[in-house]
Amino acid sequence: MRIGMVGTGYVGLVSGTCFAEFGIDVVCLDKDEHKIERLKKGDIPIYEPGLEDLVEKQVKAGRLSFTTDLKEAVEGADAVFIAVGTPPGEDGQADMSYVEAAAREIAGALDRYTVIVTKSTVPVGTARVVEKIVREENPKAEFDVCSNPEFLREGAAINDFMRPDRIVIGTDSERAVEVMRRLYRPLYINETPMVVTTPESSETIKYAGNAFLATKITFINEIANLCEQTGANVQDVARGIGLDGRIGSKFLHAGPGYGGSCFPKDTMALTQIGQKHGAPQNIVETVLWVNSERQKSMALRIIDACGGNVDGKRIGVLGVAFKPNTDDVREAPSLQIIPLLQDEGAKVAAYDPAAMEEAAKELEKIEWCKDAYEVAKDADVLVIITEWNEFRALSLGKLGELMKSKVLVDLRNIYKPEDMEDKGFRYISIGRPEIRSSEKSALKAV
Ligand SMILES: NC(=O)c1ccc[n+]([C@@H]2O[C@H](COP(=O)([O-])OP(=O)(O)OC[C@H]3O[C@@H](n4cnc5c(N)ncnc54)[C@H](O)[C@@H]3O)[C@@H](O)[C@H]2O)c1
Repeated sequence: MRIGMVGTGYVGLVSGTCFAEFGIDVVCLDKDEHKIERLKKGDIPIYEPGLEDLVEKQVKAGRLSFTTDLKEAVEGADAVFIAVGTPPGEDGQADMSYVEAAAREIAGALDRYTVIVTKSTVPVGTARVVEKIVREENPKAEFDVCSNPEFLREGAAINDFMRPDRIVIGTDSERAVEVMRRLYRPLYINETPMVVTTPESSETIKYAGNAFLATKITFINEIANLCEQTGANVQDVARGIGLDGRIGSKFLHAGPGYGGSCFPKDTMALTQIGQKHGAPQNIVETVLWVNSERQKSMALRIIDACGGNVDGKRIGVLGVAFKPNTDDVREAPSLQIIPLLQDEGAKVAAYDPAAMEEAAKELEKIEWCKDAYEVAKDADVLVIITEWNEFRALSLGKLGELMKSKVLVDLRNIYKPEDMEDKGFRYISIGRPEIRSSEKSALKAV
């Protein structure tokens, strides 16, 4: 079989490469010439564990190629996937201009029966809009439209694509379902559940899924606030409720609020879809508000840790990516928290294993460091914003020696309060009692 992937970003590149691994001939197209040039040279434009090797393997096998020529991607294809961006527009609705442009371009190049698949996350009703656009552009085209949302997570994208919890296929056409089943054959054989439904249900599944997960995170974050006031420990609470099979333990990690390329825009888009259809999504609207307040409150927490004033203080930041194992900083908590600290006069030094180049496009006046210890040097406070593995086992003794004051704000709860106490740190984490007993030793003589 043969497919074209229109849009070679996170989703297009990962899913195109994984389809090639399934034995399908894949042509990945992007309008960004620079990106395609890099890919042709084997230079992967995103940080995603395992992707470089897999791309190299599939290119060598002759199953994966890259182009800017639409005809190359569409002609002879059994299916053409639309995997372009759907960023938030000014009013929070998904900006559909890229999807609509892609549909128009594909229409002109169709030369046989083709399934046009929307893999981008799109508002309910988009499959019908795509169908209308293609029909208008090319009345003779033989095609069906199918919604096939993607659930991969950056940082674990290949595994998520190869071993998904389910595949969702939304179309009215039996013929299109047949093509999709053949494309996903290796997963079908593995008995991966397939939800075959209408385009509207499929499109809703993607938004409802992300909104539910964002709600779960926001819920435990508010419980963490309560724990801080009562002396309870949010990690024990999360474990205690998560072991209930009806609740489940995933997405119950309290932290600085969700960010990333999907949750913020998808929750916002869902509330807009709800408004448009006269079915307000009140819970999700509240989640959006609570989450945005939370990111701001994290900056206040850091200012408090510095005694209420950060003017002229040196704040060390560990991690700027929105989560570990990615260089993506879209809507990352760091982009909210750091400028608020700088507005109060703080000098920020930061390190991230992969995302500094991306973050440097968004953040100003940061002293970018080569590792965590350089960040810690002369810092008044050290803040963990992203829980990269390499931050989990830092030498606390060495950090303490380098820092001006031994104060650690851990927004991801990756250290044990008792270890921090042993090492004489003042330790502020999320939803757990603050370690203050060592405050005197934390304030080193200068
Ligand atoms: N990133 C994720 O983790 C993730 C997960 C699931 C779903 N999604 C959804 O998938 C979609 C794509 O997200 P992404 O993160 O891969 O975006 P991205 O910004 O990384 O990539 C989109 C790519 O599409 C290209 N493009 C735009 N218009 C084009 C056109 N007409 N022809 C050819 N190429 C074109 C852009 O140049 C860009 O390279 C979004 O709707 C997103 O919500 C993303």
